[in-house]
Amino acid sequence: SKLVGLVGWRGMVGSVLMDRMVQEKDFDLIEPLFFSTSNAGGKAPAQAKNETTLQDAFNIDALKRCDIILTAQGGDYTNEVYPKLRAAGWNGHWIDAASSLRMEKNAVIVLDPVNMPVIQNALANGGKDWIGGNCTVSCMLMGVGALYKAGLVEWMSTQTYQAASGGGAQHMRELLTQYGTLNAEVADLLHDPKSAILEIDRKVIAKQRSLTAAETANFGVPLGGSLIPWIDKDLGIGKSQDEPGWGTSKEEWKGMAETNKILGMGEGFNSAAIPVDGFCVRVGAMRCHSQALTFKLRKNVPVADIEAMIAADNQWVKVVPNTREATIQDLTPVAVTGTMTIPVGRIRKLAMGPEYVGAFTVGDQLLWGAAEPLRRMLCILLS
Ligand code: HSE
Repeated sequence: SKLVGLVGWRGMVGSVLMDRMVQEKDFDLIEPLFFSTSNAGGKAPAQAKNETTLQDAFNIDALKRCDIILTAQGGDYTNEVYPKLRAAGWNGHWIDAASSLRMEKNAVIVLDPVNMPVIQNALANGGKDWIGGNCTVSCMLMGVGALYKAGLVEWMSTQTYQAASGGGAQHMRELLTQYGTLNAEVADLLHDPKSAILEIDRKVIAKQRSLTAAETANFGVPLGGSLIPWIDKDLGIGKSQDEPGWGTSKEEWKGMAETNKILGMGEGFNSAAIPVDGFCVRVGAMRCHSQALTFKLRKNVPVADIEAMIAADNQWVKVVPNTREATIQDLTPVAVTGTMTIPVGRIRKLAMGPEYVGAFTVGDQLLWGAAEPLRRMLCILLS
């Protein structure tokens, strides 16, 4: 069986990936070779077969042995190791969770329930680089990819509600610590049913504003009890404030660039590209990204037809009836976390006109947003 190098399997995305690979019995199909950036020579995890010693993740000769390398180690690792490995003549398949190589010409952003034809075309043309998409984009397309496949989308606007996990494990801890700190600040008043809510509110805001640099080290500002309407870098692109794209965050930029690349419509900002734009916002959720979507469709399609198309697209998407009860039960991060389900709800025509459709979708940022497309790509290469 193929020798598959696993790098970054101990981190948050890597651990979710390992769990999924165990659940789906992927290890039955491969000879795993476990790498480590810090513990080379140590003992590989239980999934190891013949190769039970951890390899040095920076050792190009060790990496060159692999037929396939699957990494969730992060962008810095990819930037350092990938060019050296290719320069050393390695011709294997590189499957990567990091964004570093996503927009490279020869790289495919993998999300096979949405873009299997793009993957197959690249395979037929000798493609070797398979990169997981941005979590928000992948979860969105798992939900509403049907509308794109049908050629119905003239443009889409997204307003996201992104979880702490998108920043990393430390960000999740920081969020919970902040919640605890705020609770502790007013715990006595909360226990007293006669206390004044505005007194509680005053103490909470005073605490939020006086959190130390250590208490906000990861997000930079308080997130617990607040939100942050900027994710990732300030691109500062465009020449003037009056140009499209000016003032976009990198996360917002990815929405259009990656959506179009995944769908095989070029590198993202060509004339054929479908405009995708909006605002990406960090909220105090743990690991599910949620997003409100506004579509301008190319024609007036009945809501029932839209629902049917979305529901039929793949086995994970689930249309949630646009009722209050179904929405609050099934269309939240709490309902979706740890599951492969991608619910799409709030599907309705908007006041702007019959071609304007709204929807809301939620996805586990670590499953469909990160680990799952990678292990599925591994299986495609093995099949
Ligand atoms: N950029 C994403 C986020 C991480 O910060 O939520 C997943 O690609």
